[in-house]
Amino acid sequence: MTRTVYVNGEYLPETEAKVSIFDRGFLMGDAVYEVTSVLDGKLIDFEGHKNRLERSLKELDMTAPVTMDELLEIHRKLVELNDIDEGGVYLQISRGADDDRAFEYPDPEKVKPTLVLFTQKKNLRNSASADKGYKVISIEEMRWARRDIKTVQLLGASMAKMAAHKVGCDDAWFVEDGYVTEGSSNNAYIVKDGKIITRQLSNKLLAGITRAAVLRFAAEAQMQIEERLFTIEEAQAADEAFSTSATAFVQPIVEIDGAALGDGTPGPVAKRLREIYLEEAMKLAV
Ligand code: PDD
Repeated sequence: MTRTVYVNGEYLPETEAKVSIFDRGFLMGDAVYEVTSVLDGKLIDFEGHKNRLERSLKELDMTAPVTMDELLEIHRKLVELNDIDEGGVYLQISRGADDDRAFEYPDPEKVKPTLVLFTQKKNLRNSASADKGYKVISIEEMRWARRDIKTVQLLGASMAKMAAHKVGCDDAWFVEDGYVTEGSSNNAYIVKDGKIITRQLSNKLLAGITRAAVLRFAAEAQMQIEERLFTIEEAQAADEAFSTSATAFVQPIVEIDGAALGDGTPGPVAKRLREIYLEEAMKLAV
């Protein structure tokens, strides 16, 4: 089925949507994005994604071409037009298209940002990956130093995922100066003696919207949380591990660099957190 997508104020069939070859998102990776999940036709944690988008834009001296209320309406309309019960909405704002290629930002009075949104249909709630658990490899950090900004510069993530697939694994965790930063497209956690351990926020990792929600729900459920650095060796010796993202929610991890965690099946803390997340996130869906 042809999707209806949104480009700069217009709802169009995906085959008719066009962006300039001079668009800085295309030429420079000069664009930010968000992925918001949809469950039962409703947007999960739109508020969180909206807030992070505003921060990403601010960090790059960009402005959104529409208001945040309008953005919500566009999300909702696309979900409706494409009949999305379960899946997601991808949003991208680039600095726009000047009439040539240049490193310097163009004058924002002259060049307006490009806003693109499209939907994806996907089974999220019932996930074979979540039931089975992921095998991950570690890989040396190779991305830029502002991973707190959600930009479309994703080649490092793609390369890491391909390296994992090449050796029969599902995903990769980046390691910098001996410590795990995050997963290729998710935040990373280990569990030891019931305690949830995850790296503290900084410019070295993305402040996941799912991370914030999961940590909040875990605290409400009286679970212990420690935000600190951890190594791959510590992760391999942990009772369990998992990752979080808007599209996979809580994804159990059963193997790290060939070492099985616990009994090699998804652990109880990850499973419980996935349940809690799905239940609580639905209450706030819009
Ligand atoms: N990725 N870290 C990185 C590098 C990510 O790309 C993502 C999300 C996360 C988790 O953030 P959140 O919980 O807000 O989804 C952490 C999205 C899903 C993607 O690129 O498709």
